[in-house]
Amino acid sequence: MFSKRVLISLAAYAAAFPAPEPQVAGYTDANAPYADDAPTPVTNIASSFGPGSQIPYTVVTPAVAAPPRVSGAAGVLTGHTSHGPYEGTPTTIGAVQAPTTLGAQIPMLPPNPTATYYNKDGTLQEPAPVPYQPAGGLGTNGTEPRYMVNSDFDFESLSLGLYQEWIELDLFNNGLATFSEEDFLAAGLTGEDRALIAFMAQQETGHATLLTNMLGEAAPGQCTYNYPYSTVREFVDFNQKLTKWGECGVWGFINHLDSREAGQLLAQSIATETRQQMSFRQMLGQHPYPFWFSTGIPQSWAWTYLAPYISSCPENTTRLAWQNFPALTIVNQANPNRWNPNNTAPGEVVGQRVADPSNSTIPDEESCVNLNVTGYGCGPAISRNRTNPLSFPGKILNLKWEEPGLAVGPNNSYVTSTTAAQPAFVAWVSQLNLTYTPLTITGQNEGWTYQPAGEVYEGDPAVNGTMFVALTDTNMTFTAFNLSNINPHVRALGLYTAG
Ligand SMILES: *[C@@H]1O[C@H](CO)[C@@H](O)[C@H](O)[C@H]1NC(C)=O
Ligand SMILES: *[C@@H]1O[C@H](CO)[C@@H](O)[C@H](O)[C@H]1NC(C)=O
Ligand SMILES: *[C@@H]1O[C@H](CO)[C@@H](O)[C@H](O)[C@H]1NC(C)=O
Ligand SMILES: *[C@@H]1O[C@H](CO)[C@@H](O)[C@H](O)[C@H]1NC(C)=O
Ligand SMILES: *[C@@H]1O[C@H](CO)[C@@H](O)[C@H](O)[C@H]1NC(C)=O
Ligand SMILES: *[C@@H]1O[C@H](CO)[C@@H](O)[C@H](O)[C@H]1NC(C)=O
Ligand SMILES: *[C@@H]1O[C@H](CO)[C@@H](O)[C@H](O)[C@H]1NC(C)=O
Ligand SMILES: *[C@@H]1O[C@H](CO)[C@@H](O)[C@H](O)[C@H]1NC(C)=O
Ligand SMILES: *[C@@H]1O[C@H](CO)[C@@H](O)[C@H](O)[C@H]1NC(C)=O
Ligand SMILES: *[C@@H]1O[C@H](CO)[C@@H](O)[C@H](O)[C@H]1NC(C)=O
Ligand SMILES: *[C@@H]1O[C@H](CO)[C@@H](O)[C@H](O)[C@H]1NC(C)=O
Repeated sequence: MFSKRVLISLAAYAAAFPAPEPQVAGYTDANAPYADDAPTPVTNIASSFGPGSQIPYTVVTPAVAAPPRVSGAAGVLTGHTSHGPYEGTPTTIGAVQAPTTLGAQIPMLPPNPTATYYNKDGTLQEPAPVPYQPAGGLGTNGTEPRYMVNSDFDFESLSLGLYQEWIELDLFNNGLATFSEEDFLAAGLTGEDRALIAFMAQQETGHATLLTNMLGEAAPGQCTYNYPYSTVREFVDFNQKLTKWGECGVWGFINHLDSREAGQLLAQSIATETRQQMSFRQMLGQHPYPFWFSTGIPQSWAWTYLAPYISSCPENTTRLAWQNFPALTIVNQANPNRWNPNNTAPGEVVGQRVADPSNSTIPDEESCVNLNVTGYGCGPAISRNRTNPLSFPGKILNLKWEEPGLAVGPNNSYVTSTTAAQPAFVAWVSQLNLTYTPLTITGQNEGWTYQPAGEVYEGDPAVNGTMFVALTDTNMTFTAFNLSNINPHVRALGLYTAG
């Protein structure tokens, strides 16, 4: 009844005032082919929903039975459901290592001598293998696809991806299982939103199955986890961070995989992961994707962000080869639950780990969660404008970082490490770009920098949304396809929410 009244009064408004002209600067001669009328008033809204008409149908059953899932088949979860920190003593320590390691850094080499193709006139340069198929491409010559990892690089990359899919499966279910319907409603999220989160958890069972199949019998299984949140907003904030590094961790390695076939299927799963990230941002009342390009990060970065939230894994779980970097904390990270993020107190997050969410239990008068004021409210929405941005270019950021040598990850059995010298720069990785700002050191493992300006292409600020920051000892150039070679220069890693 209430919504009907609103709609009718909007319609009356539209009838009284003609619709404004479309507003797209520079878009002239649009010649809209439709009548220049106000939207048709809504007068007769459906109120009964009984059966209407019967349409033709046939009875079908799937031609092939669906392959089983590794967890959650028939809606019943399997795997570990206990949570909390690990208190025991690990039986093994450190990342998996190859029998031999050949060097300390990847060399800087000139472009590959065969990478010379250039087409200046738009005509085909080589004989075509068949009609309508231009020469070139990988995996295009008829060899049967093999949807399996095809190198140690592939194996370790997809194993990392599988650790990520497993935590997502547990995490999305965990929020649904531990918060009540009222808790979700208080954060502005309805039963339909909870059903969407439940659907995302189901997607993860499929992703975990896919990666398990492409890895083979040594694929890692589900672990136990130690989550940072105690409210629905914090759960959602943690989810949007975790899915961000899950997504970007894959974009970072996917085009380096030896197995194009594995890359193909992985891309098709990560495309849905990006939508999960977007939906979680919307549930936080944030712009869903305030950037033009997603970014890619090295595997060791994704593992650094993920590992602190895995408390233990079953005996013999396949271990990973990636590095864990020391944690970098942005002390004055803006709290997205505030209508005035400038008022964020130092350390206004719920814990010490890099991706711990911002504190959501701030006083009501300082919170934007239940504020229905355009430009200030941050309840769930398709998109929101923020009159007071979370951050802006030039904002001074206070930083703290850990010493290496700390135990992290499953069973506290991995150890943070760095080979970097004294840090001097802050590397900002977002969109297509890596930008450096100078680091000013103010004390033992303490210093400051500022949010950089700069655009990817004109009009697209490079730093926006959830993105990645590293302390480095160098300001050498790295780009999307050679970023992982920065790792020997990384002193500590953090996560930043700009906007
Ligand atoms: C980790 O802890 C689990 C549970 O206590 C145990 O079964 C497993 O063997 C441990 N793994 C390592 C590497 O310590
Ligand atoms: C087909 O292409 C693959 C690379 O995609 C290559 O390794 C293989 O040698 C090619 N096979 C033939 C018969 O040309
Ligand atoms: C772990 O691996 C060892 C060595 O292969 C084996 O003896 C042991 O039974 C395995 N434990 C489990 C729980 O699978
Ligand atoms: C936040 O701080 C910036 C920089 O001092 C200032 O320009 C801006 O007006 C402040 N915003 C609010 C809402 O106080
Ligand atoms: C969050 O902020 C409130 C109000 O300032 C404070 O009472 C509470 O302890 C904080 N929560 C955490 C986990 O720090
Ligand atoms: C804001 O809007 C939500 C959703 O429409 C509603 O539940 C809530 O009561 C409103 N809050 C205020 C303060 O008007
Ligand atoms: C939202 O922000 C855009 C600029 O980013 C502005 O053009 C638009 O008018 C704003 N809309 C509202 C409803 O505040
Ligand atoms: C960002 O990346 C684009 C595309 O690679 C490049 O042209 C641009 O110069 C970079 N901008 C900055 C600020 O680094
Ligand atoms: C790297 O840093 C040095 C020292 O601060 C500076 O002189 C140089 O211009 C920087 N180079 C780049 C590419 O930013
Ligand atoms: C990374 O690639 C860029 C070209 O995109 C090149 O300029 C840069 O030197 C490379 N960096 C290293 C350390 O190899
Ligand atoms: C980040 O994106 C939002 C949404 O498009 C925009 O309002 C804001 O101005 C952007 N931030 C910067 C620093 O440009």
